[in-house]
Amino acid sequence: MDNDLYKLQRTALDEIQQAESKMALENLRVKFLGKAGAISRLSENMRKLPKEDRPHTGKLLNEIRNAVTAALESRLDTIEAEGTAQILSDIDETLPGTRFRVGGLHPLTLLQDQAVRTFRRLGFALADGPDIETEWHCFDALNTPANHPARNDSDTFYLPDGRLLRSHTSSVQIRTMGAQKPPVRVIGPGAAYRRDEIDATHLNQFNQLEGLYVDRDVSVADLKGTLEYFVRELLGHEVQTRLRPHFFPFTEPSFELDIRLQAIQGGKWMELLGCGMVHPAVFEEINAKRGDSAYDPEDWTGFAFGMGLERLAMSLFGLPDIRLLIENDQRFLAQFAR
Ligand code: DAH
Repeated sequence: MDNDLYKLQRTALDEIQQAESKMALENLRVKFLGKAGAISRLSENMRKLPKEDRPHTGKLLNEIRNAVTAALESRLDTIEAEGTAQILSDIDETLPGTRFRVGGLHPLTLLQDQAVRTFRRLGFALADGPDIETEWHCFDALNTPANHPARNDSDTFYLPDGRLLRSHTSSVQIRTMGAQKPPVRVIGPGAAYRRDEIDATHLNQFNQLEGLYVDRDVSVADLKGTLEYFVRELLGHEVQTRLRPHFFPFTEPSFELDIRLQAIQGGKWMELLGCGMVHPAVFEEINAKRGDSAYDPEDWTGFAFGMGLERLAMSLFGLPDIRLLIENDQRFLAQFAR
């Protein structure tokens, strides 16, 4: 019996030593140590041995089981170490690493942020309103008559329920005055929508920055001073400005603010924004809606303005086509990344 056992041990250790994979080792473990394996079978055979031989054979079997277990473990360690070494030697540490591409802010966002920061320094708070508006907030409350061309459904997107996509952010003025008493000092950046044919200078959706200031004794001088300060902060001290008379239903008097800067369009005058003194009829509409006289035009005056961001971006950055701002072409956008 002893000889058989030693032979078995030699065979087991040889085969384990030659195993090349974890899978092969596992098969050997089952073959020798498993329930139906060679060593277990021999243990069962012990019952047939004479009683006096059993302790000796039992001890020998135990030794063999321990030797086989130890050999399996040691071979497993070796195979795993070789695998790791192989993986490491496959790595070419001279290859460049993975680059993380860091995003940047969109040029319009940068421009809007800069404008908002300037007005916040002047004490303006951020105001907001829905993109889907009522006709009243977008037009009626802004003293815009029913037959005004902007109200036509060839100019403005109407929803089946009669609401619309706001054609300007001036509705934010109305939302703000509906919700708070004067004094008011807010800016409202946001999207506006118009039913234009899309081309190099028009989009269906664009961005405006609305402003509203209501207090006692606000005058055109305040309007002019505020906007001139803003424009210089945005474009530098060389920029020239002029107020040109204009018409808007919700302001009286109304103006357009033009700017002139050598670096923009070769120093030609360029229209920047619409503005004016809040029309008393707007205050009266608000009062009627509020059911009070919080905005009594005898006590309060105000100025308002609205600026388109895309056109300004086009001039500032010398863009030939407004669609560059919505196409998400990385070659274009990367130029503005900071
Ligand atoms: N809402 C006007 C537009 O979209 C711009 C504008 C003009 C806004 C005068 C104002 C304003 O607040 O006072 O063309």
